[in-house]
Amino acid sequence: MIELAGVTKVYRKGRVEVPALRGADLRIAEGEHVALVGPSGAGKSTLLYLMGLMEEPTSGRVALFGEDVSNLGDTARSHLRGRTIGFVFQAFNLIPQLKAWQNVALPLRYQRVSKRVQKERALAMLERVGLAERAEHYPAELSGGEEQRVAVARAMVIRPRLVLADEPTGNLDSQSGRAVLDLLEEARSDGATLVVVTHDPAVAARAERVVRVVDGRVQPD
Ligand SMILES: Nc1ncnc2c1ncn2[C@@H]1O[C@H](COP(=O)(O)OP(=O)(O)O)[C@@H](O)[C@H]1O
Ligand SMILES: [Mg+2]
Repeated sequence: MIELAGVTKVYRKGRVEVPALRGADLRIAEGEHVALVGPSGAGKSTLLYLMGLMEEPTSGRVALFGEDVSNLGDTARSHLRGRTIGFVFQAFNLIPQLKAWQNVALPLRYQRVSKRVQKERALAMLERVGLAERAEHYPAELSGGEEQRVAVARAMVIRPRLVLADEPTGNLDSQSGRAVLDLLEEARSDGATLVVVTHDPAVAARAERVVRVVDGRVQPD
């Protein structure tokens, strides 16, 4: 359901070209739980951004759910992303001016549901991650572990087919990290595919398959 074939990605920083991927091949089956590991700078986040439709490949093919998305326009790209993909970042990336439930409700803006239904669904997701009583709190009033659980609720509120997490436990103590991983894995019981970039061997060990990325390529197993 996810396929990357001969994918390259070159970032441009002014006049400097930074090659991040140098011909990466990867297939991930629907419902699979995969960990991406490898040295810093190897291209793990870039792979995740390509799968998450946040970046376009310089060359090569990216297919999601059987559809070639290598050259989708910006509108189609954000539309597909907003309906099908949940993203969790290392730094939580919550909006400080919004309450917890408002952060969770954000992805629902792109769906045709009323404000009332948006709030209902956000509150239900917060309850699922054990934070019902924090709904009216702002991010600054939450612990790191709580912030990341809000971020997981925000990723899950659209019932994504694909959940992508970039070092989701990197800023957490091990107990909070385990709680966040538990919640990400719960998404799979709804049939979602889960791809987690991690440096943490304990996090990688929970995946069905560990994929190593080295120097812009996926190592064959
Ligand atoms: N937005 C960007 N602009 C320029 N270079 C980037 C950008 N993002 C990543 N890179 C570079 O691409 C390479 C791969 O980065 P990344 O995918 O973040 O690797 P990893 O997640 O494995 O640490 C690195 O050399 C990094 O510096
Ligand atoms: Mg990274």
